[in-house]
Amino acid sequence: MPTARAADAEAQRETSWPMARTCPFQPPGRYAELRATTPIAPARVWDGSRTWLITRQEHLRALLADPRVRIDPAGLPRLSPADGSVPVTRSLLTLDAPDHGTLRRVFIPEFTVRRARAMRPGIERIVDGLLDRFVTLDRPADLVAELALPMSTLVICELLGVPYEDHEFFQSRSERATRLMGDDESVTALLELRDYLDRLITAKARQPASSDGGVLDTLVTGRLRTGELTHADVLDNAVLLLAAGHETSAAMTALSVLTLLQHPAARRELSEDPGLLPGAVEELLRYLNVADGLRRSAAADIELDGHTIRAGDGLIFLLASGNRDESVFPDADLFDIHRPARQHVAFGYGPHQCLGQNLARLELEVTLGAVLRRLPGLRLATEVDTLRVKEDSAIFGLHELPVTW
Ligand code: HEM
Repeated sequence: MPTARAADAEAQRETSWPMARTCPFQPPGRYAELRATTPIAPARVWDGSRTWLITRQEHLRALLADPRVRIDPAGLPRLSPADGSVPVTRSLLTLDAPDHGTLRRVFIPEFTVRRARAMRPGIERIVDGLLDRFVTLDRPADLVAELALPMSTLVICELLGVPYEDHEFFQSRSERATRLMGDDESVTALLELRDYLDRLITAKARQPASSDGGVLDTLVTGRLRTGELTHADVLDNAVLLLAAGHETSAAMTALSVLTLLQHPAARRELSEDPGLLPGAVEELLRYLNVADGLRRSAAADIELDGHTIRAGDGLIFLLASGNRDESVFPDADLFDIHRPARQHVAFGYGPHQCLGQNLARLELEVTLGAVLRRLPGLRLATEVDTLRVKEDSAIFGLHELPVTW
């Protein structure tokens, strides 16, 4: 435990945000220091403006569920000069109550555990098809490009109801948009995807699918035609589903495989008893934290644990820190597939908690199960410390994962 004086000194030390994360398995070391000394910490962003970093799980939960805490893009802490220049959409991740709840209720039936389970055979088919191809590739092969990214894109195609003949277009543009993050080619790929979805929604509105299509078919038939949602609402949220579900699942898949390669005992147990997979997936989500640094602002003064967060202050929620909080997870830095990990906040908390979490869990369970079964000799084709990580991306992940088998 730090002494009172050390804690005071720590509280005075200025922290800047964002902090780069360089290790595939560990959050920045500063997170643990803040959690121990200044769990609600003042920090500065690029232009010198102040924001709060929230690092303990109890505070994360209390504030993320607090109706005075808002996601309206106008109030969010800006992380770069360009931040905030993208036109604001009416998607779930830009709306507060009551509009958010109204829109979310439209989507909830599409994302229940039951709906996710109904997608299992489709996900198994996608993963099997990708692995059929994977085993024929020259070695070493890149598991990010050849399995993780196409898996998550094809699942989104299935979810949205993208016609089969367009899967290749959708996959190539999603891959380009992710791989080349930030440069002109990636922006073009993103715009092409948006245009494509725009046309797809128009086509579906003209001729709805006869049988159960995807989420877009349901929205077009049940909500667009009735006037409950506009074309722009459907489009904004289709783009959100792609953005929120593509890179996150792909990053988790590749990092999860890497984690299992680094933990042979856990890998052996999971190969012998796939019934342990759902628990292991929760622990991987807790341990790896691909989504971190959620942003909000305070709409009113909030008193919490002796701190006053003023109306208008920015808030940044360090999920990766909450998931290493020793008061919730003893030996939090250890990867242990047997621990009860479900209390993690890897999917966020409160009204915006991940809508696709049931689907994401299933994608991970199916893909990891198939990798363990079909590639028993899988191993890393390079040293783990030479792997390039996405230090500055909104979603943490690996640029590539060279493996052999
Ligand atoms: C392992 C993979 C995933 C992780 C770690 C993840 C994580 C998150 C987190 C942390 C949030 C909360 C954001 C915030 O409060 O600011 C979120 C929201 C969301 N996620 Fe996920 N996600 C994953 C996969 C998916 C998938 C597969 C989909 C759907 C295809 C999806 C759709 C969404 C949507 C629509 C929201 C916004 C919900 C709302 O604002 O009401 N996510 N996700």
